Amino acid sequence: MATLKAVRGTRDLLPPDTALWNHVEATARAVFARYGFGEIRTPIFEETTLFARGVGEETDIVSKEMYTWEDRGRAEGSSGQSLTLRPENTAGVVRAYIEHKMADTGMLQKLFYIGPQFRRERPQRGRYRQFWQIGAEVLGPAWSGSDSALRDAEVLEMLATFLNELGVKGWKLELNSVGSSTDRPRYLEALREALAPVKHLLCEDNQRRAETNPLRVLDSKEPGDQEIINNLPKIADYLDDASKEHFAQVLAALDACGVPYAINPRLVRGLDYYTRTTFEFTVPDGSGLGTQNALLGGGRYDGLSEMLGGPKAPGIGFAIGEDRLILTLQAQAGEATAKKLDAFIAPMGVAQNALALALAQELRRAGLSVEVGDGSFRLKKSFDAADKLARQMIILGEDEAASGVLTVKNFNKGEQTKVARAELVEALRG
Ligand code: HAM
Repeated sequence: MATLKAVRGTRDLLPPDTALWNHVEATARAVFARYGFGEIRTPIFEETTLFARGVGEETDIVSKEMYTWEDRGRAEGSSGQSLTLRPENTAGVVRAYIEHKMADTGMLQKLFYIGPQFRRERPQRGRYRQFWQIGAEVLGPAWSGSDSALRDAEVLEMLATFLNELGVKGWKLELNSVGSSTDRPRYLEALREALAPVKHLLCEDNQRRAETNPLRVLDSKEPGDQEIINNLPKIADYLDDASKEHFAQVLAALDACGVPYAINPRLVRGLDYYTRTTFEFTVPDGSGLGTQNALLGGGRYDGLSEMLGGPKAPGIGFAIGEDRLILTLQAQAGEATAKKLDAFIAPMGVAQNALALALAQELRRAGLSVEVGDGSFRLKKSFDAADKLARQMIILGEDEAASGVLTVKNFNKGEQTKVARAELVEALRG
């Protein structure tokens, strides 16, 4: 029989790696709480229209990477519904914002999420078909201050703090403004004009994009097209005064907080909802990501709520590729050493098994991490298992059971001591 494997592009996360995943998520929760964020959990699948309208029909994500299926109608004869595994979480959060009338509170909403996303991309290191994002969105009616440049800078400063607290080395923040819905059309016009005479020299995908969505040509990685792309008009020259002023305020606030950045005029990002500020954090080569060096990305989306039929609700957010963050931390830390348990109890003979389990119960209740061997193990096997798993080993034989004095071996110190049961917890903590 053929052996079953995880589907291409998906993977199992196993101990001890999951300890690092939990540490990253706990750090995110702790940092985000200090900035007033609360957690939101949206469904893993949504109506396909949400992503078509929110992310954009012409984006790579919607046009070729979604897992979409026709769900059966509820009753015979009733029509089915097109559903899609979420390829990202911003559209779902804004849908929930509209559905639960969060605008009615008049307050700024600060929401974060941690969860799997799905894109049918070509799998490689740092790129999976099921991957995890840690993201956050700040949105609300304009009178809640949601369109203020202060929010952009606050989110970026929070990300810098988060990456520093995790110990990520050498991260770089790249930043751009893609303008508002009023100045964008002028830029698109200029792009179309500049592309017209050279379009035939571009790859097939970019020829199509030049027609349908010229902004998407800018973030194309097609090597043969780079020279033409580099010479296209820059969006900075087409921003209106309000967008220019907004961007200047973001930069001034980052300067005030001491967050370093570099402006990248080509950073337009692969989703259609962005307006004004867009950004990415990257890590240097050799950080374990290969060519997938974007650790996280995000930006402002002042028109998304209206695109989804909701009230005007300017917003800004980001999503961190958690898989990539973990790969980076592992590569930068070298070989991770798994944290060892406090103690391993080795019962000498199966007659001691019940007592060993009761001792483990007592120690675990006292907050120690403990593994129990088995009385059928030879002493050598117990030693080897204990040495692998724990800092200390407790030998529980007939004598120890009778006297209440246990033998404790400390592997780090290489010494063996006798400890009375009443003092055991303290001794093991040491
Ligand atoms: P995105 O740039 O499509 O933005 O994804 C954000 C991050 O998710 C990327 O920088 C990358 O680290 C990670 N990522 C994306 N695709 C994959 C993949 N196939 N495998 C592993 N990691 C991946 C968004 O998703 C927006 N919703 C971000 C946002 C939030 N903008 C505003 N608010």
